[in-house]
Amino acid sequence: MSQNTKKQHAAREALKYVEENAVLGVGTGSTVNFFIDGLEAIKSRIRGAVSSSQASTARLQKMGIPVLDLNEVDHFDIYVDGADEINPALEMIKGGGAALTREKIVAAVARKFVCIVDDTKTVDVLGAFPLPVEVIPMAREYVARELKKLGGNPVWRKDCTTDNGNQILDVHDLRIVNPGALEKEINAIPGVVTVGLFSKRGADVLIVGTEDGVRVSEKS
Ligand code: 5RP
Repeated sequence: MSQNTKKQHAAREALKYVEENAVLGVGTGSTVNFFIDGLEAIKSRIRGAVSSSQASTARLQKMGIPVLDLNEVDHFDIYVDGADEINPALEMIKGGGAALTREKIVAAVARKFVCIVDDTKTVDVLGAFPLPVEVIPMAREYVARELKKLGGNPVWRKDCTTDNGNQILDVHDLRIVNPGALEKEINAIPGVVTVGLFSKRGADVLIVGTEDGVRVSEKS
């Protein structure tokens, strides 16, 4: 079974969490794209979506799903998004698609974060996937030097400007044993907009697409 088929199965399972008349938070990436595609069949039963990227906004709108401004929505029940890595505590590395800042904002507002991944994304310790950090362009080299002091090897993602007009450093060679502490430490570096560590606001539900179907677990 292909990785995409597993992603598709996880995305389909997440549709079960969508309630009648709901506003949904929608993440970004290939797994979420399968989720958005699945919304087509039930779009008349939802009020709309708050999107985490220009790419997801375009896909939702193409499907005729109203995209709501987060400033007009004070709460909603679920946020559905993928991840680059997720550990047993449901802490994640995100931002492979460069949408980490808006993802973190939309996730913060949602009551429940439903993470959908294929089984290549589950790990015991985060860090094999390079940790994305969104930076203000003028601060890039300063932030890179600070990240080196933390033991990482930051690489500028040269072909990428985020939806917020910023740049991304991908930090290699980290073994993240305390994601909460590292999230705080990196966020405190001047010039950092967002680090793609989702520990403070991790997932509440994890849906993993596997060879044998989906595996669902909840944060303990
Ligand atoms: C985008 C993200 C994505 O959720 C993450 O990169 C996973 O993507 P995919 O579903 O394509 O594997 O954080 O910024």
